[in-house]
Amino acid sequence: MSEKNIYPVPDHFQQAWMTDEKYQSLYRYSLEKPEEFWSCKAEHYINWFRPWNSVYEGDFSKGEVSWFRGGQLNVSVNCIDRHLEKRADQTAILWEGDTQDEQKSYTYQQLHDEVCKLANALKQLGVNRGDRVCIYMPMIPEAAFAMLACARIGAVHAVVFGGFSPNSLQDRILDCDCQMVITADEGIRGGRVIPLKANVDEALQCCPDVHSVLVVKYSGSDINWVEGRDHWYQSLTATQPADCEPEIMDAEDPLFILYTSGSTGKPKGVQHTTAGYILYTTVTFHYVFDYREGEVYWCAADVGWITGHSYMVYGPLSNGATTLMYAGLPFWPDASRIWDIVDRHQVNIAYTAPTAIRALMAKGNAYVDKSSRSSLRLLGTVGEPINPEAWQWYYKVVGNSRCPVVDTWWQTETGGIMITPLPGANALKPGSATRPFLGIRPDLLDDDGNKIVGPGEGNLVISGSWPSQIRTLYGDHQRMLDTYFNRFPGYYCTGDGARRDEDGYYWITGRVDDVLSVSGHRLGTAEVENALVLHQAVAEAAVVSIPDPVKGEAIYAFVTPMDDAEPSTELESELIKLTASEIGPIAKPKRIQWTKALPKTRSGKIMRRILRKIARGDTDNLGDTTTLADPSVINHLIEHSAYCQ
Ligand code: WTA
Repeated sequence: MSEKNIYPVPDHFQQAWMTDEKYQSLYRYSLEKPEEFWSCKAEHYINWFRPWNSVYEGDFSKGEVSWFRGGQLNVSVNCIDRHLEKRADQTAILWEGDTQDEQKSYTYQQLHDEVCKLANALKQLGVNRGDRVCIYMPMIPEAAFAMLACARIGAVHAVVFGGFSPNSLQDRILDCDCQMVITADEGIRGGRVIPLKANVDEALQCCPDVHSVLVVKYSGSDINWVEGRDHWYQSLTATQPADCEPEIMDAEDPLFILYTSGSTGKPKGVQHTTAGYILYTTVTFHYVFDYREGEVYWCAADVGWITGHSYMVYGPLSNGATTLMYAGLPFWPDASRIWDIVDRHQVNIAYTAPTAIRALMAKGNAYVDKSSRSSLRLLGTVGEPINPEAWQWYYKVVGNSRCPVVDTWWQTETGGIMITPLPGANALKPGSATRPFLGIRPDLLDDDGNKIVGPGEGNLVISGSWPSQIRTLYGDHQRMLDTYFNRFPGYYCTGDGARRDEDGYYWITGRVDDVLSVSGHRLGTAEVENALVLHQAVAEAAVVSIPDPVKGEAIYAFVTPMDDAEPSTELESELIKLTASEIGPIAKPKRIQWTKALPKTRSGKIMRRILRKIARGDTDNLGDTTTLADPSVINHLIEHSAYCQ
């Protein structure tokens, strides 16, 4: 790494409370005495009804861990009530709708009242502690109210991204046995209507256990109504008391389930607990974003993803921050919208995904230059590796070389940020997520599980527990063990590859399993393949990723038609539509290649490694092809790939 690609800590951050020396000594301490470290953080950052008996218990290698056993708390009290004494009138949630003229803000007192009213309404609808509640919402404050109202009464929320199809929604509702859904009549994004309630109606055709649907009136359009089952959010909450006694939760009680993609077609319901999750997101938010009293913080993620959970809702509110929520799109009505929002709301900290940065960069600097952005102090990215060019544009053009960029690596399963720069502590290298957060011990292993010491590249694993680690996959603990703990015994296997340089900085190289990252959204290859083979003209499909200048990765599908089917452009568009209707628009393939056969091993396993190379035009060295059942398939595939036409 040449010197010119190292960005030292900017002057005004040299005085930050976190310095390199302090980070090093705190980091050492956090690894040497993890229980002392985390109990000290738990006392300082969290309000408890009852203190814990033990900080950590369990067997990490078996994925059985518990943090703060015996402790009792409520997450909504930590995110709301405890701030009321000092911050009742401070803005908690600042909201901007799809168009600039729709704006709302809620103080901490108003947030308290809204959450309590909804919590009472949920109780009235028969929701009890431990019940699962599905939240399928646009980016409106009611989505955050719904999460916090569940937390208040001890219900477990399962937020499903509003861009998911009725089928995907149905799978998730059934998998975690939700009995209630909170939604809106319609979402509106970039001027486009998303028929949320209609999607819920379709999904619920096969979900007999769902007894109630609570509907926020948002667009105001006419919608289908099922008497007895459907209730208007506004009418039901209007008559409820603005106080609701919080449920006293045990530290290890589940807080939420969030579905994410894995390497099989079935999504995984990642379950997080109460104490460990809120502690870790609270502490990481404070350290990573260097949040200072009174600042406006904006995380541009959707509430349907883990980033929206940990760093738009829970982490910021637990710290008493002002968190901005935006319902629209980065380019709506044009590419200056983001910077316009930054100026109008005087945003100090902005956190978004590399895909958005690349797309905005592609529009040229003029849109950025129209704004002042002088309020910005810190920039962050998450979700996928950021290429150095996009990093530099973010740093230099957006941040005027004043704002450190925190490139934060983490996962749905980790609950919070794991590898990241801490502003003030680390010189930055564009493209590197830098160094581990306090208490986190990353390691690199070769494919045989041998530890790589010093600089090198390998499978990224984590040694030892941290408070917000995944506790189980809902209803399938064995799958959680097989996915994360059995591949490399004794370690949590992340599924990512990484390189460690001579300074101990980590560079995430991407997934090493069958998971795609399209615009920073996780999708399993099997999910897309399962959707494609639903078409009667398709015999078989295999999906791989190809690099995409904006989305990071795009989907390239190899499809074998049925003997009696004729490939055509019409058929291609039908398949593309099918992936969108089965999964959601993010699952649309960028390119479909028809093929008579797929490369398989003699035992019938598709050799994706080879398909990936063919899709990328990287066919000079296909590696070991001796295990192929029929090597002639390869030449045919290469001749008909996107690169040979
Ligand atoms: C990828 C999102 C490189 C990674 C919080 C991980 C990243 C997956 C980064 C998790 C980053 C996330 N640099 N890659 N800074 N952050 N990833 O569960 O492959 O939606 O395994 O959580 O995103 O995606 P998930």
